[in-house]
Amino acid sequence: MAKFKPISELINNYQTGYSLEQEFYKNPDLYEVEMQNIFMKHWILAGHTSQIPNKGDYLLFEFDKESVIVIRTEDGSVKAHMNVCTHRGSHICLEKQGTVKALTCPYHAWTFNLDGELKAARNMHEDFDFSDNGLHKANVELVGGLIFVSLSENPPSLDGMRKDLADVFDVFGFDHMKVAKHQTYHIKSNWKLSVENYQECYHCAPSHKDFAKVHAMAMTPEKFNKQKEDFIAKSDGYVRTKASPFYFDLAKEGEECYQYDRNPLLPGRKTGSKGAEPVAPLLGKLKKYEEAASEFMVGPVTYFLIYDDHMLGYRFLPDTQETSICDLFWFVRDDAVEGKDYDLDDLTWLWHVTILDDEEIIVNNQKGVDSRYYRPGKLSEWEHFPQNFLNFYLNAISED
Ligand code: FES
Ligand code: FE
Repeated sequence: MAKFKPISELINNYQTGYSLEQEFYKNPDLYEVEMQNIFMKHWILAGHTSQIPNKGDYLLFEFDKESVIVIRTEDGSVKAHMNVCTHRGSHICLEKQGTVKALTCPYHAWTFNLDGELKAARNMHEDFDFSDNGLHKANVELVGGLIFVSLSENPPSLDGMRKDLADVFDVFGFDHMKVAKHQTYHIKSNWKLSVENYQECYHCAPSHKDFAKVHAMAMTPEKFNKQKEDFIAKSDGYVRTKASPFYFDLAKEGEECYQYDRNPLLPGRKTGSKGAEPVAPLLGKLKKYEEAASEFMVGPVTYFLIYDDHMLGYRFLPDTQETSICDLFWFVRDDAVEGKDYDLDDLTWLWHVTILDDEEIIVNNQKGVDSRYYRPGKLSEWEHFPQNFLNFYLNAISED
């Protein structure tokens, strides 16, 4: 049986500017702390309203041992209930997505309405209180059509982000998007290696030859910064270029972490696609291609990349301590018609090949981290976002 250092010792030993030591990826007690202090607390993208357009439509949002039913109720609102029957605990919805008239448990047929209230339970004692046995509720907030769920009793506020980014949501038409495709990728690595990888573009040039043909970010920081300065100077401000850098440890007190930034693509590149040419109609109120893309992040594990004609959503979740899930969502404007306005293969090509590249490098990373020879390594100047993530992470697991 492996012996692990106390978590407090692990945290105290961490040296800023370095990667984490091996036990951070291995200690099962620490994994439990991560679930409680990060995944059961923060806002995470659960899906999009376009995936559950009609009453009774639901999807499951799942990580680790948790399963949440995200459902369109009778009055058209979106609610979230834990997929745990209040009788003896069975999962109620067994399919990942579907349509129901009511939520009937497959075990002994207790039946809950779409609001999660218990409506039928066979042969119970006369004094049995139905009102006390509704499904456990989860918090839901909509950002445009994006559905965020938090399992906390007291979730961090999204109000500051909503106010700050109202112009961004308006110009990109967050109220008028739909999911064109959702795909799940299973990665044989601890979830932190997946998140750490997403936070840096030090690996982009060597690992993502297709991405590097479109994104200026794959160049050296000097070249990229120069191009970004030129881009901001030339911008007419129609799409916001001002950054909101409240990511990870830079979140304001009581508020969820979030980020917005706008970055140039390489000259002449319009969007993230095979030939960098448009693959869907312009989003929202955009009038032209700016050869740029915006970054948007909400909470610690949900990120978006907003091209002018489509948006990509990224969500990283733990499946077990050794395995993680990356969900990719491709969004287009809600009146775009598949086959006419966009072709799914063209739309999804770049980020499908990019996540396959990422999967390979993350899994190789995990193999080396598992070695008896692994030691924390020095981060480069390009890896400041992973450092912010690590700062956030260490603060989170230090909380009682
Ligand atoms: Fe659901 Fe018994 S466990 S009805
Ligand atoms: Fe990558």
